[in-house]
Amino acid sequence: SVLPRPSRRPSAERAADVVRHAVQAGLLGDEQPVAGFLDVEGVRDSVAALQEAFAETPGVLHTFAAKAASLIPVLRLLADTGMGCEVASPGELRIALDAGFDPARIVFDSPAKTRTELRQALSLGVAVNADSLSELARIDELRPEHSSSVLGLRVNPQVGTGSIGAMSTATATSKFGVPLRDPGMREAIVRAFVERPWLTRLHAHVGSQGCPLELIAAGIAEIHRLAEEINATLGTQRITSLDIGGGLPVNFDDDEVRPTFAEYVSALRTAVPGLFDGRYALVTEFGRSLLAKNGFICALVEYTKNAGGRRIAITHAGAQVATRTVLMPAAWPLRVGAFDAQGRPKDGPMLAQDVAGPCCFAGDVVAHDRELPELAEGDIVTLYDTGAYYFSTPWAYNSLPRPAVYGFTTAEDGGDVRLAVVRPAQSLDEIALESGLEHAGALVALGS
Ligand SMILES: Cc1ncc(COP(=O)(O)O)c(C=O)c1O
Repeated sequence: SVLPRPSRRPSAERAADVVRHAVQAGLLGDEQPVAGFLDVEGVRDSVAALQEAFAETPGVLHTFAAKAASLIPVLRLLADTGMGCEVASPGELRIALDAGFDPARIVFDSPAKTRTELRQALSLGVAVNADSLSELARIDELRPEHSSSVLGLRVNPQVGTGSIGAMSTATATSKFGVPLRDPGMREAIVRAFVERPWLTRLHAHVGSQGCPLELIAAGIAEIHRLAEEINATLGTQRITSLDIGGGLPVNFDDDEVRPTFAEYVSALRTAVPGLFDGRYALVTEFGRSLLAKNGFICALVEYTKNAGGRRIAITHAGAQVATRTVLMPAAWPLRVGAFDAQGRPKDGPMLAQDVAGPCCFAGDVVAHDRELPELAEGDIVTLYDTGAYYFSTPWAYNSLPRPAVYGFTTAEDGGDVRLAVVRPAQSLDEIALESGLEHAGALVALGS
């Protein structure tokens, strides 16, 4: 069934069970001071909500944007729900294949595809969205008419920016797609389709976090209008599918899922009624909205200190697992939870504290001046809503190890917690190897 289960305990309650269980099982502590956790049933529920929102529209391929959680067991879980996969690099393509996605359900987007990558995608039958007219010219050389790949063109509808500039891909000067409103480009796009019988899809991804539904819908309306124009020019329905991207924003303020996929579909119905009339197969590429609220990070509080009148908790979760939050704190605030050394939720008087990470730069703070129960050495902090783009894609700064990631299920009565390893913590041996251990003497030898 695609219907979400009607009643589930709030995710904060389930997270509390998992923290307690992880502490008792020795998965958090001196030797593993930080880890990521993913709610397996929550992920299934989120996918079900997406499928349900589009249930009246046949022929929708929902792909998961692999960049949001580039972990093979997570991708395998999503494949098991019936999703396809959107990839944006050869590494993502490789792990999508290893996760078991049928190549015909994989979509390859990237602004910098090499000839080798294009050749591989075409020979596998992976769908490709060309990012530019120059890329189309490269595809021309690869005998695309002999491939089973669905081939499309990404268009930048240039409908404007959301609240986070870095996440807005439909600005006038965005590096993505063919800029639809630039002089002469609309005609050039139509010509590109006229000249290439194998080109059958239009693609737009308006942006990610920070883009309101109306902006996303306006961008999709633009590619729908363009598809109608191209098909009318050709006198046949050459464009048979529209890839409408991802980008549904996530609420990082509390436990509520908002906006919902149902609200997204209703915004689309208002802005582009023709989108759902069955003439175009649809592809979606959601990432954050499927995973963010289904994951959290746990980290040990190693020390506390006072500086200049500010209380600071030094924890093991910093820029290596919460890169965007640390580097752009105003755009990416995270909720923080406080637990004691036994994994029980802390209460008691609130105190404004900085929750800092382990990295060696002053800005490595995941929450500034945050009111929390007073944190002490040995406590655990949780960073909520970090199931997408956080622990799954760590930054290797300071040679900090990639943390372990666990998937979990919890019983409805709060009893049984089951955990599975998604990715073990990186060992120091692995860090040494990827830091050139096998070439340790190479530079000294070169210079002598
Ligand atoms: C082309 C494309 N599709 C889909 C996504 C996924 O976006 P989100 O995680 O906001 O749904 C991205 C994100 O960068 C993207 O660039």
